[in-house]
Amino acid sequence: HPPNFQMEESSGLRRANCRAKGAAPGFKVAILGAAGGIGQPLAMLMKINPLVSVLHLYDVVNTPGVTADISHMDTGAVVRGFLGQPQLEEALAGMDLVIIPAGVPRKPGMTRDDLFNINAGIVRTLCEGIVKSCPKAIVNLISNPVNSTVPIAAEVFKRAGTYCPKRLLGVTMLDVVRANTFVAEVLGLDPREVDVPVIGGHAGVTILPLLSQVKPPCSFTPQEIDQLTLRIQNGGTEVVEAKAGTGSATLSMAYAAVKFADACLRGLRGDAGIVECAYVASQVTELPFFASKVRLGRTGAEEVLPLGPLNEYERAGLEKAKQELAESIQKGVSFIKK
Ligand code: NAD
Ligand code: LMR
Repeated sequence: HPPNFQMEESSGLRRANCRAKGAAPGFKVAILGAAGGIGQPLAMLMKINPLVSVLHLYDVVNTPGVTADISHMDTGAVVRGFLGQPQLEEALAGMDLVIIPAGVPRKPGMTRDDLFNINAGIVRTLCEGIVKSCPKAIVNLISNPVNSTVPIAAEVFKRAGTYCPKRLLGVTMLDVVRANTFVAEVLGLDPREVDVPVIGGHAGVTILPLLSQVKPPCSFTPQEIDQLTLRIQNGGTEVVEAKAGTGSATLSMAYAAVKFADACLRGLRGDAGIVECAYVASQVTELPFFASKVRLGRTGAEEVLPLGPLNEYERAGLEKAKQELAESIQKGVSFIKK
């Protein structure tokens, strides 16, 4: 390790020992892709999370700097950095939760599926590391195309005999965060008061907001429904275009990832009634994976909740979403099977 790594590790160990003597219990969390556009603010926000006692930052570049920087924050979590594939297994050893924002982001004109060729291999390698070092960890997968990378991860785990569907969650929280924001704007409400379920997947028409189930109960004109649905489906593209070639959503994504990770950790702790949308193995449709509300608990996604009543507009959207999702799932599965 470079010298700053040594330093962080030894002071980290001392603090970890103190903690073992009776301080509040916390969870061990690894971020893979921690030096990236999402990874850095995500690492910063997880360092602030009181449920985290140990934070491992892994990337193939730049983790020494990010680790040194984050480790100076005077919050409870002990931070350790890991650089490059030879350190992957060590980075993952004993982790309770692994968050994966590793991989290339879109540029204007690209679809998320255009990232498949590079990101599929990255996700496979990282999941092979999870198999070896922390097969019981909860995995929050952010790398795109999520509709295909989650099936890839499932196949890697199945092959290794470690697959537990409850522990693998594709992160679609950003769609919910955007939906809450955009709907609140239209209704003139505080976004924190708004809850919009978003089902399906995480790309274009597979992102299906259920505007008929918004809380607090409200009604929209047909034009508002069209405009809101389209804006939520294109939220990622809106940011990609605004960033004009320098990347995709990173800050709102880090916020959404932390909101979701925190819900997973509260579930692991045993809190009751934790429900969030996520892309998981599912039987709510005929597809093997689908995003919908799930109840998070000590073992991960303990229950996939029913979709609830859909109106005609949403049923039509669901049919479109399922067609595209079926192809993306198949593409992910064949990547590992072939
Ligand atoms: P970025 O390029 O800024 O960062 C990616 C990081 O991954 C880099 O630091 C890179 O070194 C690292 N990386 C590359 N290969 C790796 C490997 N084999 N092991 C570990 N780390 C590796 O990109 P970003 O903006 O942070 O986006 C990352 C991914 O998240 C993209 O695929 C993007 O499309 C996706 N994303 C998903 C959502 C979502 O809602 N699920 C939202 C935004 C972005
Ligand atoms: C998003 O929704 O912002 C991400 O999936 C990144 C992207 O490519 O749009």
